[in-house]
Amino acid sequence: LNNQLARTPAMGWNPYNAFLCDTTEEQYRAAAQNLIDTGLKDAGYEYFNLDCGWQGTARTSSGTFTWNSTRFPSGIPALAQSVHDLGLKFGVYSDAGYYSCDFVGGTAHWLGSLGYELSDADTFTSWGADYLKYDNCYAVNSTDFVDDYPPIEEEPHYTAMRDALASTGRPVVFSVCEWGVQDPARWAPAVGNSWRISNDIGPPPSWDNIFRILNQLVPVSGFAGPGAWNDLDLLEVGNVGLTVAEQESHFAFWAAAKSPLLVSTDLTNPAASTLTILKNARIIALNQDAFGKSIGFKRRYTNDNDVWAGPLSDGSTVAVVINWQNNSRSLSINLADVGLASAQATDLWTGDDLGEIDVEYTATVAAHGSLVLKLSNTYPAPAPSFTTYPAASSS
Ligand code: GLA
Repeated sequence: LNNQLARTPAMGWNPYNAFLCDTTEEQYRAAAQNLIDTGLKDAGYEYFNLDCGWQGTARTSSGTFTWNSTRFPSGIPALAQSVHDLGLKFGVYSDAGYYSCDFVGGTAHWLGSLGYELSDADTFTSWGADYLKYDNCYAVNSTDFVDDYPPIEEEPHYTAMRDALASTGRPVVFSVCEWGVQDPARWAPAVGNSWRISNDIGPPPSWDNIFRILNQLVPVSGFAGPGAWNDLDLLEVGNVGLTVAEQESHFAFWAAAKSPLLVSTDLTNPAASTLTILKNARIIALNQDAFGKSIGFKRRYTNDNDVWAGPLSDGSTVAVVINWQNNSRSLSINLADVGLASAQATDLWTGDDLGEIDVEYTATVAAHGSLVLKLSNTYPAPAPSFTTYPAASSS
């Protein structure tokens, strides 16, 4: 979206993978403080976002969007203020349909913004919103959770909120969460600063979900660019269910795919590995690289490993090689798979200089672990000799 925002992918925190919709003011306040105390804000995670469960179930008598006053007794503007006081940016969550996704219980629903876009954009920005995650449930009618029957063209719901946000004059990152809609990558770059490419990563986290989302990126990786990113969903780093190697692969892949990096774990007492992964400055730099190109799929060695690669702003190439096998093993990257003949290589996890690589590089990779290499001073491999077919004649 050409609103000058998110020129590199947004980085921040969202509660959903840790707390689902069961969130309270106290919990959010503690989480914002944790973002500071863990050093994650200093590492670049600046957006502190709400997800489901903060909203009221009815508008005020004048039709204004409002919050759940039992869960948020001090109110959202006060929460936004304390988040801003910590030097963080504040994100709100709403829905392009009648209600947001989860049930409150019984027949009660949390508010959505359909038909109230101008009013809600004014309300959210008057509270100090810097980011809006905009979901897509109950988009077709108010009785069905039908956001997952493509093809349904809900783009107008999104353009209405995009334009409403623009009319407020406040810079607001617009995160389009429309995973039920067909081919969002085809329309969303002009509508949002990011768009979800898949349904939810969890919770609970699982390696299978990461594999699924990674496959869903294959056809759309090329649509990402500055201000408009494929959103691979919230991070599961730190949550129970993934090994450390799996968390590393997940994080490096999301970073290199230029997905927004939204930490979504309880930071009250994080494992050392959680912070080591999330704060790796070389992997973060990969995500925040000014060139803004996603890695693309290069090759799958069936049941064995994937090779992905993409260009960086300094002219180098990043290659991510993922070990699909359930055991640690020796894994090679063949430079021809990423279009190179030789390269000066750096291991981006450790920062180790691996020296000059010719043809291939071999290392031991943990089960579901990955190699993340920066390949510099490169010159292209000789063009492969494929048969080329003449274009069909128009006559
Ligand atoms: C949808 C979204 C999730 C989360 C939930 C909240 O499932 O995809 O990211 O926001 O709604 O109910």
